[in-house]
Amino acid sequence: MEERIETSATSKSDAAVTAKPGALGLDIGTSRIVAANSTYDQETRSQLNAFISMPASEMAENVLKQRNIVYEKNCENLYVYGNDTDFFASFLDTDMRRPMQYGLLNSKEQMSQHIIQLIVKRLVPQSRKADVLCFSVPGRGETVEGNLVYHEAVLKSFLQSLGYQAKPLNEGMAVVYSELKNENFTGIGISCGGGMCNVAVSFMAMPVITFSVPRGGDYIDTNVAAVLNETPSRVRLFKEEKLDLGRPGDDDLSRALNIYYDDVLQTLIDKLRMEFRAQSQLPRIDRPMPVVVAGGSSMPDGFLKKFEGMLHAGGEFPIQLADVRMAKDPLTATARGCYIAAMSEIK
Ligand SMILES: Nc1ncnc2c1ncn2[C@@H]1O[C@H](COP(=O)(O)OP(=O)(O)OP(=O)(O)O)[C@@H](O)[C@H]1O
Ligand SMILES: [Mg+2]
Repeated sequence: MEERIETSATSKSDAAVTAKPGALGLDIGTSRIVAANSTYDQETRSQLNAFISMPASEMAENVLKQRNIVYEKNCENLYVYGNDTDFFASFLDTDMRRPMQYGLLNSKEQMSQHIIQLIVKRLVPQSRKADVLCFSVPGRGETVEGNLVYHEAVLKSFLQSLGYQAKPLNEGMAVVYSELKNENFTGIGISCGGGMCNVAVSFMAMPVITFSVPRGGDYIDTNVAAVLNETPSRVRLFKEEKLDLGRPGDDDLSRALNIYYDDVLQTLIDKLRMEFRAQSQLPRIDRPMPVVVAGGSSMPDGFLKKFEGMLHAGGEFPIQLADVRMAKDPLTATARGCYIAAMSEIK
């Protein structure tokens, strides 16, 4: 049966975000949604792109009210969404539901559009003067083809309904904008996220190659959980708090996480090599290309060394690469890149 929301009266704090005119960056990621009003880290804010539902009852509603939790309700269920989801999911020992999967709106989740709109409204104020808002979208890939058209159009039309001039921006290009200004926006921007990895090869801010691979943190968590008979959330917590990719360790969890990290990175690198080989004409560059990595899945200790080692392991690369470096703040780089793109549109 369709779950239909009938009231939004409880979403009071949605209006609490203050507007800044001009430009806004919005990273609509599978795991988190991040908004940026400037290029500085402190001017970003984020919400988990997740929710849980629980049967509606007066008692449950009172608990949420006492804790000042923003929630939605329909005749059957109460919905807690955004950053409060994590706490309530472990408190109620239930799985989070996710509006997105592999970088796109989750077609198996009937509440996806409604919840994503609620979460975005908690981060982004209504625009009164048609501010420019750039939002991240994944590159084409195995699971991202025609469905990207739908994903982009649905989000664009919702953001327009909030009063913005909404413009999609490839996530890899957002990393380039945020991290490669001093290199004239020439280089390779990579985001290793929750649902996927996104790559853009840019020459002077022009995308020459863009693609996604449908493997990221979620793929690692579910596969490690399956082979070790664990739950994905326990694997995720271990991964986020304890994993060191420089030291494989002798416990099963570390070993399995290393195996699936290798798998994700090898898939990404193979595809990058293939895309370069498939290009008949590449612009000439007079210096090696820098590579910047962002996204939550690039956060474990030892990630950069592993990635760099694997990049050079398969023999000579189709183009000359400079150093591989981490984004200044891997979790907000995409949102800040979107902000820079939005700024450039209004200049
Ligand atoms: N410290 C950490 N160590 C390892 N993994 C982490 C860490 N912090 C976050 N992650 C993982 O990063 C992923 C989320 O990354 P991010 O927020 O960049 O994704 P996203 O942008 O929402 O997703 P996508 O770009 O794939 O649509 C999750 O899988 C999470 O477990
Ligand atoms: Mg992302």
